Amino acid sequence: MSENISKPAKAAEKEVVLSGIRATGHLHLGNYFGALSKFVRMQHDYDSRYFVADLHALTTSPDPSALHENVRNIVAEYLAAGLNPDEATLFVQSDVPEVSEMYLLLNMHVGIGELMRTASFKDKARKALGINSDSDDIEKEIIGTDSNKRVNAGLLTYPTLMAVDILIQKAKKVPVGKDQEQHLELTRRFARRFNSFYNVELFPEPTNFDFGGKPVKVPGLDGSGKMGKSEGNCIYLIDDEKTLRKKVMRAVTDEGPKEPNQPVSQPVENLFTLLELTSAPEVVQQYRDAYADCSIRYGDLKKQLAEDILKITLPIRERVIDLQNDDVTIRRILARGAEQARETAAKTLAEVRHVMGIRRF
Ligand code: TYM
Repeated sequence: MSENISKPAKAAEKEVVLSGIRATGHLHLGNYFGALSKFVRMQHDYDSRYFVADLHALTTSPDPSALHENVRNIVAEYLAAGLNPDEATLFVQSDVPEVSEMYLLLNMHVGIGELMRTASFKDKARKALGINSDSDDIEKEIIGTDSNKRVNAGLLTYPTLMAVDILIQKAKKVPVGKDQEQHLELTRRFARRFNSFYNVELFPEPTNFDFGGKPVKVPGLDGSGKMGKSEGNCIYLIDDEKTLRKKVMRAVTDEGPKEPNQPVSQPVENLFTLLELTSAPEVVQQYRDAYADCSIRYGDLKKQLAEDILKITLPIRERVIDLQNDDVTIRRILARGAEQARETAAKTLAEVRHVMGIRRF
């Protein structure tokens, strides 16, 4: 690993790619296929900047003892999955204080209404308030007295902070999973609004990136639509072999096809989706054909799936274990990354302050 502080000169000509993952726990297959595997594939061809979103983690789980540990784990998992600090800038969100200042400034151009309508806010607010229905009328609940404690303003302004992460680095490509597309749409809207309000061309409009394919939504093993930490249905990159096999073998299915070419139920389709992400196309086809002619045995499908997931996760797990306690390496990488990230962030913030009329005498 080189000790050079500055990035190679050619990086300046490459398009900026930026993305991050919240420090809320270990990374799972959703994070891997929706984000991290793309970070790794993009790191060489782009000016790639990847961070750990520790400030965003505070919006749902402000737990001082867990936060620091979570940041360390995610950095270790980034490196173990193949991110190379000599190719990509790796940093922690809170190590770039310019982000927090610009978050305050950008909030002056963001409407409370548009934030309250964001699907992720409504979901998280509903969860915090213990409301199970899909009713849109959560505003009353939020305004209700003691609920204010549970739905914090940071949760509401989550998209502003995310937009700032992206805009402060002037990123054009943001590799994220499907669930983040609305946040990206808001980022583009805020960028356009700022540029047009001040009549400047300061911010590019960022887009998702998926190597020509569709953005990924990795399903859960419990038959639900999405794998997620708060859904409790995750396969983690650091799961050991036994745990992982057990989770896959317990995945929800159905009674099996009774007629040829019967439509596939959601839980079984989820297993096929996972198989498509982890196995060779001919293997997927073999199981699809077996489903179509009713000869499929879900036990075999699950064994195959566990095998193919392990091929991806076990080497990562081994490297994570090596790295997890190597604070010296992690500190060195993050210090260098913070310096690189701050360089651009400070420049952008200076431009933003100037444009908004905040000038020194
Ligand atoms: P987080 O931690 O919720 O998710 C991190 C990344 O993992 C992807 N992801 C999934 N993709 C497909 N299927 C799933 N089941 C699945 N679960 C998670 C997410 O789409 C995301 O790409 N708000 C961001 C963090 C962030 C950020 C940013 C990202 C903060 N600032 C700036 C990009 C740019 C988030 O979703 O974190």
